Amino acid sequence: MPECYVCGEEHPVKARYCDECGALTITKQRGRPRAKKKIKPKILILFYSMHGHTFKMANSVFEGVIEDGGEAILKQVAELIPKELWNDDVRKAKKLMSDVPVADPKEDLKNIDGIIVGTPTRFGNMCAQMRNFWDQTNEDWVEGSLIGKPAAVFTSSATQHGGQETTIISTMITLLHHGCILVGLPYSYKEQMTLDEISGGSPYGASTIAGGMGERMPSDNELIMAGYLGKQVTTVAKKLLP
Ligand SMILES: Cc1cc2nc3c(=O)[nH]c(=O)nc-3n(C[C@H](O)[C@H](O)[C@H](O)COP(=O)(O)O)c2cc1C
Repeated sequence: MPECYVCGEEHPVKARYCDECGALTITKQRGRPRAKKKIKPKILILFYSMHGHTFKMANSVFEGVIEDGGEAILKQVAELIPKELWNDDVRKAKKLMSDVPVADPKEDLKNIDGIIVGTPTRFGNMCAQMRNFWDQTNEDWVEGSLIGKPAAVFTSSATQHGGQETTIISTMITLLHHGCILVGLPYSYKEQMTLDEISGGSPYGASTIAGGMGERMPSDNELIMAGYLGKQVTTVAKKLLP
């Protein structure tokens, strides 16, 4: 019902004079009821892992998204290395991840509200399996499926200075081409500044150090930061929801 803009009384739609104060125009219409705001952002956690380190980090990212009230979707990108070439360590890790669905590059970027990409370092860049996924996403790039959606990256490398930051930042270039809003780990997450132990984590994103033989699994400190990354993307996604 319209309401008198002088005294605020409500009137039948066609009334021209306010019964209460006599004002001539009572045209102030109440706005259309707003579409209910979605409150649970859908966040895709897309990863590749050969020995399980990035997978373990992905699980903490997943928990962070859930804790912050998001809907977390965990998917791994397709493997490119033939099974005959897997060693025992790879077979063991692949078994652990066997329940995680393989992402479809033609479908899985649609209808999400944010994305968090996890890739092990390969010579300071994302791995070929992750590159292969993104190289099939031209249709979503044309459609702009990810424009304005928050995105973050996490990684794993053998050595402390083996290219974690370059991997994260170079992966972000692809996300920028897709129109994403980049999210990192703000310094308010103080765990990244620790001098008490060797640890991954930087303002660019979460990370873990696997060791030259993959002998080190993500530390508690690194897993905490992976969880924060999940939360941070979810928090931003909630603010950007239509
Ligand atoms: C081809 C290849 C290149 C790699 N390049 C690097 C590198 O540049 N720096 C580094 O620290 N580790 C490098 N690594 C080690 C991996 O990053 C490490 O095995 C990985 O982070 C373990 O994670 P995952 O268990 O999730 O596979 C490389 C491994 C392979 C197979």
